[in-house]
Amino acid sequence: MSIGVCYFPEHWPSDNWERDVAQMADAGLEYVRMAEFSWGRVEPERGEFDFEWLDEAVELVGEYGMEAVLCTPTATPPKWLVDEHPDILQADEDGTLREWGSRRFTCFNSETYRKETRRIVRKFVDRYADNPHVAGWQTDNEFGCHETVRCYCDDCAVAFRDWLREKYDDIADLNESWGNTFWSQQYDSFAAVDPPRPSPAERHPSRLLDYYRFANDSVVEYNRIHADLIREANDDWFVTHNFMGDFASLDAYSLAPDLDFLGWDSYPTGFVQDRRQGDATVPELRAGDPDEVSMNHDIYRGAKQKPFWVLEQQPGDVNWPPYAPQPGEGAMRLWAHHAVAHGADAVCYFRWRRCREGQEQYHAGLRKADGSADRGYHDAAQTAEELFDLDPVDAPVAILHDYENLWATEIQPHSPDWDYWSHLRSYYAAARRHGVQADVVHPETDLSGYEAVVAPALHLVDEDLAGNLTEYVESGGHLLLGPRTGLKDPYNKLHNAPAPGPLADLAGATVDQHESLPSQVPTELQYRGESFEYRTWAEWLVPEDAESLGEFTSGTAAGNSAVTTTERGDGQVTLCGVWPEADLADALVSDVLDAAGVARTHRLPDSVRVAERDGYSWVTNFGPADVQISAPEDASFLVGSAEIGGYDVAVVEAGAHELGVSIADD
Ligand code: GAL
Repeated sequence: MSIGVCYFPEHWPSDNWERDVAQMADAGLEYVRMAEFSWGRVEPERGEFDFEWLDEAVELVGEYGMEAVLCTPTATPPKWLVDEHPDILQADEDGTLREWGSRRFTCFNSETYRKETRRIVRKFVDRYADNPHVAGWQTDNEFGCHETVRCYCDDCAVAFRDWLREKYDDIADLNESWGNTFWSQQYDSFAAVDPPRPSPAERHPSRLLDYYRFANDSVVEYNRIHADLIREANDDWFVTHNFMGDFASLDAYSLAPDLDFLGWDSYPTGFVQDRRQGDATVPELRAGDPDEVSMNHDIYRGAKQKPFWVLEQQPGDVNWPPYAPQPGEGAMRLWAHHAVAHGADAVCYFRWRRCREGQEQYHAGLRKADGSADRGYHDAAQTAEELFDLDPVDAPVAILHDYENLWATEIQPHSPDWDYWSHLRSYYAAARRHGVQADVVHPETDLSGYEAVVAPALHLVDEDLAGNLTEYVESGGHLLLGPRTGLKDPYNKLHNAPAPGPLADLAGATVDQHESLPSQVPTELQYRGESFEYRTWAEWLVPEDAESLGEFTSGTAAGNSAVTTTERGDGQVTLCGVWPEADLADALVSDVLDAAGVARTHRLPDSVRVAERDGYSWVTNFGPADVQISAPEDASFLVGSAEIGGYDVAVVEAGAHELGVSIADD
């Protein structure tokens, strides 16, 4: 378990470097990530290379007993390259070019940019192929950041047509698969298909979904160029990439096979402000929403089913959210422990030192702009001292998550309130409120090792997927299906049969009606005799070969079944037709966990989470109040004690379900 930092030696005079690196080593840091935006510094003119500064920085990192993680520098090509080849720029839907002067403006499908990428990446990796201080590489930086997965330039138009030619037998097959008789949208050839550019009414949902898939595949191919060159130069190096939080347009599962492990960039106080429904509470502005952060840990762990890295960890205040509150005292340490509890093997803070120039001057570092220690430095040093080696997380539960379902429901949300991430998190948070670890995985993952599987909005379902889920249940699995499941086929068209389509036999129930509802409409139901609330989405279920566990008690839906359950083989399937509010999600998920024999805690306070890894449990307090932990008498505390303060953490050698947690003042 290691702590690291992201460092930009090119921003500072060279006589600062040794002091900086010495201070990193003093804090117990083990990895230094560098060079992701360095192309302009390394190649100021075509063919004129200056690597000496980076050589020196890598050497210093090695001398001080740490290892370097280098990055391919392709997120920011130099101006001369764009002037030579303006065709490498991306275009918005309306054709506006994404200009040079920030980052991530180059097209993944540009043959010119791919050629330039090969040239510069080869230079970098060859330079360090035999360098003993380089541990591995990050490809590029945050593919798709600033909404750049999807480009609409002419190169993309050509590449999209080729992609369609590969996927469909002929144009008749495409017309049929998409359903192009609607509004006369038939094509007479692949050459006639364009990227979905602005149009007065909605664009065809099947066309959009394929465009999103195509754009994603373009990033997969582009990443592979980097990964192959890195491995060719030295196959002992690891290859990873820094993904983002709740990031919708890039399918992390599809890049995973080309990476040794996944990494991501965690900025908790930003995420609650700019990518989550609902206003952030005051404690969340200080430390973030633990479930929002950990669901991302669990996605990037789940995608490879192995430990991941936090390649960028918030170091203090950050520049890009609407507001920049100072994190709670100790929050930078809390986040690192929380990441480790969820399966991180390394946490690298972004960045070493607050930058004196450019776009991110209002972004903290572990050190202040004048070089003195900032709040995050002390937190990082303390965490480095507290970490110890651990086996990976062994989660009993899987939550199915799939970007294609996200895209399809985003293309036709059918309600301004629909939000795939929030809906997914309703179930995820219910497991986390009971201290249960969950891998967030792609639906095609082998599920046989999980006691329970939750599939919140498995929208696009074909016979193969239905077959796998049936096998999982019949061999003893417990499956909880959510609303919007099985409504459509993978082309984004309704099935002939009512939802859940190919899963209807397994669920023993079908959907008679669905409705989306704004917040002024009462949304109530009874589940196992108790009253609960739901939100946004309702499906009236018809139990055919299943038992109804509850009915709607409000609105036009009243009297119809809202939740059904049935036994299949050695297992059980529960179908929930609504987006549950927290109490209902808790009841549903707890019942499934209990039926599956998954041990859990009592319901934890909102700001406190417990996560188990390798026989140890982390109690992380994301709120300001003191927390009291009750643990078995012989359980020892490796970090902290039975009473922890605000934004503090304890690590105890015990199973999560053996712990009790309460807010000390309660
Ligand atoms: C990340 C990015 C970094 C830096 C950071 C600021 O998204 O990878 O380069 O911009 O945000 O918080």
